[in-house]
Amino acid sequence: MNQQIGLPPRAQRPWWRDAVTYQIYIRSFTDSNGDGKGDVEGIRTRLPYLKALGIDAIWITPWYPSPQKDHGYDVADFMAIESDYGTLADAERLIKETHEHGLKLLVDIVPNHSSYKHEWFQAALKAAPGSPERDRYIFRDGKGVNGELAPNNWQSVFGGPGWKRVIEADGRAGQWYLHLFAVEQPDFNWENAEVRAHFEDVLKFWLDRGVDGFRIDVAHGLVKAAGLPDIVAVDPHAEMLAPEGRPFWDQDGVHEIYRQWRKILDSYPGDRMAVAEAWVSPASRLALYLRPDELANSFNFDFLGSLWEPTILKEMINRSMEALAEVGAPSSWVFNNHDVVRSVDRFDLGLIAGKADTTLERQGDPTKFNVLRGTTRARAGALLMLALPGGAYVYQGEELALPEVRDIPEDRLTDPRWAMSNYTDRGRDGCRVPLPWKADPAGAFGFSSNAALTPTQAWLPQSPWWGLYAVDTQEGHPDSTLTMYQQALALRHKEAGLGDGPMTWIQAGESVLAFSRPGDFACYVNFGAPIALPGNAQLLLSSGPLDGTMIPTDTAVWLRLAAGSLVNQPD
Ligand code: GLC
Repeated sequence: MNQQIGLPPRAQRPWWRDAVTYQIYIRSFTDSNGDGKGDVEGIRTRLPYLKALGIDAIWITPWYPSPQKDHGYDVADFMAIESDYGTLADAERLIKETHEHGLKLLVDIVPNHSSYKHEWFQAALKAAPGSPERDRYIFRDGKGVNGELAPNNWQSVFGGPGWKRVIEADGRAGQWYLHLFAVEQPDFNWENAEVRAHFEDVLKFWLDRGVDGFRIDVAHGLVKAAGLPDIVAVDPHAEMLAPEGRPFWDQDGVHEIYRQWRKILDSYPGDRMAVAEAWVSPASRLALYLRPDELANSFNFDFLGSLWEPTILKEMINRSMEALAEVGAPSSWVFNNHDVVRSVDRFDLGLIAGKADTTLERQGDPTKFNVLRGTTRARAGALLMLALPGGAYVYQGEELALPEVRDIPEDRLTDPRWAMSNYTDRGRDGCRVPLPWKADPAGAFGFSSNAALTPTQAWLPQSPWWGLYAVDTQEGHPDSTLTMYQQALALRHKEAGLGDGPMTWIQAGESVLAFSRPGDFACYVNFGAPIALPGNAQLLLSSGPLDGTMIPTDTAVWLRLAAGSLVNQPD
């Protein structure tokens, strides 16, 4: 399939069309002040590591003041830095030094809701029903004789009711407010002009400080259907991706907001961008967010929930690229983030994203990470993703082939999902454990500058085996996953045909995904029995050892094909 022919050469197109962006979950990245939590200064000290890895941009999860009821996605002030993480001056220094390293920096913006500690929400609680203060959020009278029933049947994404009743100034139970996520995350009312104006100011505040763009949290949720109608479905639970019957996701009104934001982005020099976290299906609906006068970019969530199955993956790739080509947007592939089970486990156990099934034990011996099926597949998946047209997102630790941590003691789980699901869903902590930088357990495996901090004293406890994946054991090791990522990212920069641009499928059998990119480059991913390397091809990189000239099961290779060998290949 050829698409986007006529694209200018890489050096002349906006950086984000080709970029590999590294997601930093700030709390778990590097702790510079020894308190067991990651921080801004910690990120700055790792810029050389990130540069050597070969990524193009970093995205930092929310670093704003927050009571941390949802680890920063409950923001108390959108124009400041959480004191546990540092100061605004630290952030400004980080932005500057990131640029000096030749990297771009994205911040996370959370426009769907604030923290209950936000001064606007505190004012709303004190104000009367119908007041301008209440109008910034979604307050409603309850149903029933005394307003004792929630205004509608919407449920929270994290479990339980999506509404909470407040106590009014006279001490009586009063109105209800909407929270699609935790109780401490009240939803904003995007019909309110002050809310709209405030977020435009927030964008400008960070753009003025030099950020290159934004990751927009719950981008599909801002506008709710008029009248807040009940969900007409058997199960009113608010899954993030629900194509039909969810009057709070993907309402047409969101597009007007993003058209306005695009104007702000374009009023700044450089290619400022925004990437939408929009769990929208089908791909044709997602494409609407990416129209030229809206957002440049959106995560491709199909992959995030994908299993290791060639037919499914191929269909997802085709569907996504066809839909996006219509609006001229590049794809942005994602196998991992801070909300889903890590791909090493997903590809091994066949779990569905976001549902860490606690009854399933990890298979295999986690001490032999290079031979685990999930690791082998995650490595092959990485080469697949990095060879596909467009940009890609790498979640911290993916480059180390970190597995999901399944043995966090229950009393240390922190994700609001755990309590809100009535202790049935362990939530997302297993993919958020602080990174192991050193094999030595001192300083929580090098995560913290405080050598006395033990692995269990990090904000989320690290398991005793965590050090096996450490950066310092993988660095310089020819077979490590870290080395493979470094090699792949270096090659990606050198190969002019990679990044955005056309691809052509190569027919190589049912169990193989194979495609070429300009410059006689090809990627073969073998899901089935061993296959032979194509004749006269030069091997550039492989995700695992080859067996002579055979590509083993669950292995991907990058090749330079013999010139002319693709003639007459069907599309
Ligand atoms: C997004 C974030 C997730 C957070 C939620 C509420 O999905 O990725 O971590 O819990 O929004 O802000």
